[in-house]
Amino acid sequence: MQKLPSLQRAASSEELKNAIEEHIEQTQEQVARLEEVFSLLDKKPQAKKCDAMEGLTTEAKTVISETESGTATRDVGIIMSAQKVEHYEISAYGSLVQLAKTIGLNDVAEILEETLAEEKDTDVLLTQIAENNINYEAAEEGSEEEEEGNE
Ligand SMILES: [Fe+2]
Repeated sequence: MQKLPSLQRAASSEELKNAIEEHIEQTQEQVARLEEVFSLLDKKPQAKKCDAMEGLTTEAKTVISETESGTATRDVGIIMSAQKVEHYEISAYGSLVQLAKTIGLNDVAEILEETLAEEKDTDVLLTQIAENNINYEAAEEGSEEEEEGNE
């Protein structure tokens, strides 16, 4: 996803920053894999705007603009946005792997499966980061705000 660097910059947890950083590197390999798939099919790759991904990107921008920098609340929002993107990618790659298998393109299916596995691992990692402490910290921030509001 092209907007990962802006999510990475907006995040404050080191764990989250590292996870996004690592996935930015993986994404570059994923692009190379797609080029490989196109060349196996003897087709020229062409960039196309994805409306769904654009919508998810707009949503991520809103999350950043509506949360305060340096808060766990923002990190939770970033994790949610990133997971929505990963889930979208998982369904797209999952369908493509299945289609490739159905039409007997097992070499293509194998390449796409590598990317699918990376997307799934990233999703699991993001859940772990949220569970480890960010969700808890964000809940604490929420209750502090409530207390302030009650004074
Ligand atoms: Fe991804």
